[in-house]
Amino acid sequence: MKKLLAVCMCVMLTAGMLTGCGSKSSVAGKDTLIVGTNAEFPPFEYVNDSGDPDGFDIALIKAVGEKMGKSVEIQNMEFDSLVSSIGSKIDMAIAGMTVTEEREKTVDFSDSYYTAVQYVILPVASEINSYDSLQNCRIGVQMGTTGDFIASEVAGSTVSRYNKGVDAVNDLLNDRLDCVIIDKNPAETFVSIHSEELKALDGAQFGFEEEAYAIAMPNGDTQLVSAVNSALEELRKDGTYDELVKKYIGEE
Ligand code: ARG
Repeated sequence: MKKLLAVCMCVMLTAGMLTGCGSKSSVAGKDTLIVGTNAEFPPFEYVNDSGDPDGFDIALIKAVGEKMGKSVEIQNMEFDSLVSSIGSKIDMAIAGMTVTEEREKTVDFSDSYYTAVQYVILPVASEINSYDSLQNCRIGVQMGTTGDFIASEVAGSTVSRYNKGVDAVNDLLNDRLDCVIIDKNPAETFVSIHSEELKALDGAQFGFEEEAYAIAMPNGDTQLVSAVNSALEELRKDGTYDELVKKYIGEE
């Protein structure tokens, strides 16, 4: 019995050491990185005409994988379950995901690869134009996003949470909502499809703060984080990053 206990403790200690500092990265020895995303967020991720996840984030993470000598397999899932799947179902997540203090409690983030802000999508004739005018409104958001967190704080708001941002936009078009709060680039993409009916206002005028997008990885996996950061840095230096911005986002 004592022996068994000793063996158990030894195994536990080794396991503990493996997750501690100086340990191997969680993807060491793996040829393929399993990367989670939520392909409902154009131009960062969407399902293309062939039915495959595509977009800026997808191209970026494939390029990161290449620099790390690994291939990339994309797992399309709900945005809300990405963070809790990191380290189990997926090795990392890229999903236009904003670095927040809350998320940092459970995952580690790479250096930021993009800066954004929440936008407010409105019917063209809407008079909503300030934080105070959002009060008591019916606000649509994608569940578990920073837009959801912001909307939930607005006094008197009724927040409808959707699995897909586009479904919120459809309910706005059908007059079931007064506005949708979602990140800048998807907001612009959705509004461009309905430019007669909808407009998008910059969240800066509502006092929303800038947000930094980063790749989320298992907590404490410093080796993986630094490998991903070096890859990102190389992609900035060799011009790939700018090329991808130009191809998918079309600005800067
Ligand atoms: N930036 C926002 C957040 O981190 C929204 C991200 C939504 N991304 C997605 N692929 N659906 O909460």
